[in-house]
Amino acid sequence: MARKYVMEPFRIKMVEPIRLLTRKEREEAIQQAHYNVFYLKSDDVAIDLLTDSGTNAMSSTQWAGLMSGDESYAGSSSYYRLMDVTKKLFDYDFVQPVHQGRAAEKVLFPLLLGKGKVAISNMFFDTTRAHVELAGGRAIDCVTPEAKDTQSRAPFKGNMDIPRFESLLEEYEGRIGAVVMTLTNNSAGGQPVSMENLRKVSALCRQHDIPLCLDAARFAENAYFVKQREEEFKDASLEDIVRETFQLCDLFTMSAKKDAIVNIGGLIGVKDDEEMSLKVKANVISFEGYISYGGLAGRDLEAMAIGLMEGIHEDQLHYRIGQVEYLSALLNDEGIAHQMPAGGHGLFLDAKALLPHIPYYEFPGQALAIELYKEAGIRGCDIGSYMMGNDPDTLEQLESEFEFTRLAIPRRVYTQAHLDLIVEAMKNIRDRAEQVKGYRITWEPPILRHFQAHLLPL
Ligand code: F0G
Repeated sequence: MARKYVMEPFRIKMVEPIRLLTRKEREEAIQQAHYNVFYLKSDDVAIDLLTDSGTNAMSSTQWAGLMSGDESYAGSSSYYRLMDVTKKLFDYDFVQPVHQGRAAEKVLFPLLLGKGKVAISNMFFDTTRAHVELAGGRAIDCVTPEAKDTQSRAPFKGNMDIPRFESLLEEYEGRIGAVVMTLTNNSAGGQPVSMENLRKVSALCRQHDIPLCLDAARFAENAYFVKQREEEFKDASLEDIVRETFQLCDLFTMSAKKDAIVNIGGLIGVKDDEEMSLKVKANVISFEGYISYGGLAGRDLEAMAIGLMEGIHEDQLHYRIGQVEYLSALLNDEGIAHQMPAGGHGLFLDAKALLPHIPYYEFPGQALAIELYKEAGIRGCDIGSYMMGNDPDTLEQLESEFEFTRLAIPRRVYTQAHLDLIVEAMKNIRDRAEQVKGYRITWEPPILRHFQAHLLPL
């Protein structure tokens, strides 16, 4: 395993100070935050691993791009630069910028789904699940069973479970509005999808005449894993892998706040469907803004055009995935369970294994996230039953496949010493794990509750 830290392929020329609180101050802060990490002030956080979304450090080239952004309402040159890059990378007929990933979902999903329709995915992320439900549909997860054993080292734990997918295609014949492939598979632990798996899903979708939509937030990391782990692609360029990935699908939504290394932005892609492009444009003009800016400033389009190319640079991915592998190797030495092999954008601690005395309905992933904050000011988040929420029909608490505490690593932000501190904090928590208590919810909103709920320790 990669205990060796990969050198940062950049120099740091601007820094942001970190404020360190005492343990007592952190205990007060999390109590005031209703034991919900989303309510913590970022000034009260030492190492912020809440998300890798929009928290990335842009390069000097991207910052320079901000200055040359063209702010014209229509026909901005920054828009055309972005279109040139997306054409080169994805080769879709129509690409639409929007302000972030969930805006893409809000625009596209109602065009595919409605009451009585279902969407099947290797795994929906929280906002994609919410937008399927807001469009009136129901979301079905169909991840490979290999993902469920966090200790197995299967190379593509993000894959669709093909036998189950085939039976779902029969069971819901005529009611499937879309198939969504999320890559990398965030909720399963930032786990990649193989090209072999995507080819099978694509062929089945074509056979059944169902649109295949890529949730492409971490397309570059996925391409890197394909190159590393799939024999056929060991000599392929990342750009070639990306192009084949997108060409196997009909549509894509993308949060550009991840692999495109920007602080805000998203995309929708339509491969070969003039009518769908027109519908997307109509929704975008109503909800997001005119077609050539889609709710973004011209400078954001410029930064995205540059970031898309930086994001698929092999040195950047080698370093980035290397950080997570390094963290995984150190935790493994300490016997601290997490999804293995390490995922692309973060380390997913197996809270179920670490806190076996806390049942899913007392939210082990959330309990561990709070413990890490109290221990060392590290902010991660629950990716488990707390995030999963309630069944939209029965309103009962759902049991998630996983109980993870996710430590998402922002791109180009933290260094080796920060990662070492995480390991130290986790060792301390492991040593007194049986004292960690579960949580109950005292207030929750009806949808995407984890962002806003109030909790209390049991
Ligand atoms: N799809 C995936 C796979 C995501 O991980 C996210 C966001 C979205 C869609 C929505 O994109 O935030 O730009 O609206 N994930 C973030 C996370 C928030 O922390 O994993 P968005």
